[in-house]
Amino acid sequence: MEGAPVNVNEFQELPRKALPKMYYDYYSGGAEDEYTLKQNVEAFQGITILVDVSRINLSTTVLGYKISAPILVAPSAKHKWAHPEGEVATARAAAACDTIMILSYRSTCTIEEVASSCNAVRFFQCYVQNTRGEIYIYANIVQRAERCGYKAIFLTIDSPRLGRKEKDIKNKMVNPQLKNFEGLISTQDDGSNIEAFDANTAFDPLFLGRYRDIGWLRSITNLPVLLKGVLTAVEVGVDGIVVSNHGARQLDYAPPTISVLEEVVGAVKGKVPVLFDGGIRRGTDVLKALALGAQAVLIGRLAVYGLAAKGEYGVKRVIEMLRDELELTMALSGCPTLNHISRKHVRTKHERPR
Ligand code: FNR
Repeated sequence: MEGAPVNVNEFQELPRKALPKMYYDYYSGGAEDEYTLKQNVEAFQGITILVDVSRINLSTTVLGYKISAPILVAPSAKHKWAHPEGEVATARAAAACDTIMILSYRSTCTIEEVASSCNAVRFFQCYVQNTRGEIYIYANIVQRAERCGYKAIFLTIDSPRLGRKEKDIKNKMVNPQLKNFEGLISTQDDGSNIEAFDANTAFDPLFLGRYRDIGWLRSITNLPVLLKGVLTAVEVGVDGIVVSNHGARQLDYAPPTISVLEEVVGAVKGKVPVLFDGGIRRGTDVLKALALGAQAVLIGRLAVYGLAAKGEYGVKRVIEMLRDELELTMALSGCPTLNHISRKHVRTKHERPR
């Protein structure tokens, strides 16, 4: 044996060489044929450990659609700033990873371009428009998404106005043309200075108090409707919710999403799926969110960073890396499937040790 022992069996070899034979035999020996002595050790080899983590299954379903892992791509605006192929590249990467991308209403590729870029299940995100006079635009976009085969509408409700991002103001950021509105409206944030852009002209500040708008949305589409941007219990008859604070881009001092997830899951009582986003950076983060009750997580910035760094390949690698990390985390936590991940696998900092 070379070097220091790396397991206890190797320790057994050291006294065999170091001790006089009489002493070594005294310690290591057993009775007569030493049958039971050998059996004591060998009998262990006939027993397998029941939690077999030699194969980990990360696959799950969201709204009935199978995905390879509980990691979806969150809606985020303006992917052409990250890469010339924009949302088309992101959509192809998500499809290559057998997962689902949620296309932002404020995308820089159109609903149709993304739909025809690859054959995959896709969801669509939208906001509530402000003036009822413009509501036809909103209907037009939702119905275009439905016609193009998007399978669900994610209605973002945490943006009655745009959060004030001081970095954007300092950078004198100018919004690009938002492709989905071309030919529909001239007052969108096309070419406008971000500071001058008044979100009240685009979003509906009263929406949070008017959940009846969901009834209207349901009247113009047959697709399932999910609410994105929920941080507290809601009772509004939707097909699912996303616990989200918009990646901390709206209300500063809103609670970190992971700190409210369990409370929302408790209030929902399993009636509809609860998805989660905000701050996912590691496979361990995914496991923590699932242990606290999320059915799957969405990644926002990570996908955009992958896209900016290496285009479609970069988004694919980001998803694969997170998936690999989750797989390893599950194996090390004794979870061969997602169903094995339970509340017992995590302890929050306010909990006492069990
Ligand atoms: C977003 N997000 C977002 N959400 C939405 O509903 N519609 C949108 O158009 C956008 N746009 C957008 C742009 C950028 C640059 C970012 C980073 C995020 C929020 C997004 O869907 C998600 O909630 C957060 O990004 C999740 O947090 P992480 O993963 O970025 O920490």
